[in-house]
Amino acid sequence: MDGNGRWATKRRLPRNTGHREGIKTMLGIVEHCQKLNIPFVSFYAFSTENKYRSKLEVSGLMSLMEEHLEAMADKLALLNRRLNVMGDISYFNPKLRSLIEDCVKNTQGFSGGVVNVALNYGGRDELNRAAKLMGKDEGIEKYLYTAGQPDPDMLIRTGGEKRLSNFMLYQLAYTELFFTDTFWPDFSIEELNEMIGEYNKRNRRFGK
Ligand code: IPE
Ligand code: MG
Repeated sequence: MDGNGRWATKRRLPRNTGHREGIKTMLGIVEHCQKLNIPFVSFYAFSTENKYRSKLEVSGLMSLMEEHLEAMADKLALLNRRLNVMGDISYFNPKLRSLIEDCVKNTQGFSGGVVNVALNYGGRDELNRAAKLMGKDEGIEKYLYTAGQPDPDMLIRTGGEKRLSNFMLYQLAYTELFFTDTFWPDFSIEELNEMIGEYNKRNRRFGK
């Protein structure tokens, strides 16, 4: 979900206003995925690197998460979806951590789909963690944060950059990639629909 900061700067607003708008966009997209019967949707919200941004921005992001977690939990209940957190949330303050844990717990029983939210997540961290957990076992998938889920069909990066930035490095091996200059807060249902249209025209061979 890239481009929140630039969306705000363009409007002479503080960066965290962009993040607030970004959360609204995210909730709208979750709802739209429901209408499209997309059972798995993932959001890269906060990377292992994002915590090295300014104190003001990081604490602003934490407050925004605290503010919106209940709305998120309500939405998920309405949609019958469970929240799955990817990342090491031990970094967050105890209050935020317990809000996240409650949301995960309270949505565990929902069977209508999954919303993955990457929080203090890095693809390399995920792989190192999985390698430690798996020991001599074979097959790393079940030690990833996405254990039991299919690999993503589409990856969408907004905000004009054309890189993965440490997101789902294992899972994206054969994923179709989409890039747009649109800043995340402006990302619309119409644009998502266009991308899905293009996705449907692509020929996926999985290397075969
Ligand atoms: C993405 O928007 C959201 C987070 C990383 C939390 P950015 O904050 O990267 O926005 P730009 O790239 O500065 O516009
Ligand atoms: Mg950015």
